[in-house]
Amino acid sequence: MIIGVPKEIKTNENRVALTPAGTLELTKRGHTVYVQKNAGVGSGFPDKEYVEAGAKISRTIQSTYKKAEMIIKVKEPIKEEYDLITKDQLVFTYFHFASYKPLTRAMIKSKSVCLAYETVELPDRSLPLLVPMSEVAGRMAVQEGAKYLEKPIKGRGVLLGGVPGVPPGKVLILGGGVVGTQAAKMAAGLGAQVTILDINLPRLRYLADIMPANVQTLFSNEYNIRRLIVNHDLIVGAVLIPGAKAPNLITRKMLKDMRPGTVLVDVAVDQGGCIETCKPTTHTNPTYIIDDVVHYCVANMPGAVPYTSTIALTNATLPYAIQLAEKGWKHACKDNAALKLGLNIINGKVVYQGVAEAFNLKYESVENFL
Ligand SMILES: NC(=O)c1ccc[n+]([C@@H]2O[C@H](COP(=O)([O-])OP(=O)(O)OC[C@H]3O[C@@H](n4cnc5c(N)ncnc54)[C@H](O)[C@@H]3O)[C@@H](O)[C@H]2O)c1
Repeated sequence: MIIGVPKEIKTNENRVALTPAGTLELTKRGHTVYVQKNAGVGSGFPDKEYVEAGAKISRTIQSTYKKAEMIIKVKEPIKEEYDLITKDQLVFTYFHFASYKPLTRAMIKSKSVCLAYETVELPDRSLPLLVPMSEVAGRMAVQEGAKYLEKPIKGRGVLLGGVPGVPPGKVLILGGGVVGTQAAKMAAGLGAQVTILDINLPRLRYLADIMPANVQTLFSNEYNIRRLIVNHDLIVGAVLIPGAKAPNLITRKMLKDMRPGTVLVDVAVDQGGCIETCKPTTHTNPTYIIDDVVHYCVANMPGAVPYTSTIALTNATLPYAIQLAEKGWKHACKDNAALKLGLNIINGKVVYQGVAEAFNLKYESVENFL
């Protein structure tokens, strides 16, 4: 198969969909890989490493798209890319169709085959191509939170790990899923005193078993949240109710009960945030302050660490990309139920129920195309 790896052109996106290691896995199986010039530079991979792994370098985004039977990307295509995608071309990337109608319309019009990372789903309902980014964001939440607790950036002036003779900082984590677990591990590793709240009791039992002694678990309810926010230095929002907006667990009024300089990192910002005062920010301007409480609400946290994020993402996507290249999308999806769930749009038809419902579009069963 001929595979194209374009350079991401969305603002501040430095990740790339294929590493030199991934390139080698494809080229050694006889596939042709075109990597757009400088596509990997933002993630620390120069063209030379791709060439050594057997890739050909294509000079422009147009030529990368034109040659490829399968495009592998990171972010959803943006307006400038819509017309580059052609009939029957397979596009394997994050799409998040339900949140953006113009993209959905453009991909229907292109008659391409859109396989979305975010809806590839394993039988246990986990989302293997979202997990790596949640892992990155969870770990980053504490790194960023620790930074913004510093006084010069308006934080409380607390060192999370404390020092001998001074107690450590306190970290409250709302939601003990992938993000929350990784955040808890980082905070605990720094020596902070950590509390994880969740509504899922089996999950709390599991966390209580595996976490170190400086992490305690607690059932999530308004009473406990009100009691805890008054004396915690860093609060991480990491809840998710699949398919729904995140619940507002911390209201605007509650900010008054927090100490000045408390830092809120709302990782759930991409689902509306679990803090009422959360609004999306960017890496260029990541924080704002309301009632002396620092809010960090960057919607694409992994974008700040593209080296780690690229490798983490491609570790998860590559096995699927190899199946698609080896068998073609029809056979690969027939053989792999998780991958089949990634199909969202095929040749102008919406084959993912959630996307059809979001925009009142006609839904067609994916089985009609396999
Ligand atoms: N900002 C970013 O860059 C970025 C990156 C990755 C993920 N995210 C987002 O982070 C959020 C969390 O993702 P995840 O992968 O950890 O999800 P997850 O499903 O693994 O975990 C969510 C947890 O929230 C818990 N929960 C639900 N309602 C709750 C409540 N009322 N109180 C406490 N806990 C509650 C669930 O029981 C679950 O354990 C998602 O919105 C995801 O999209 C953001």
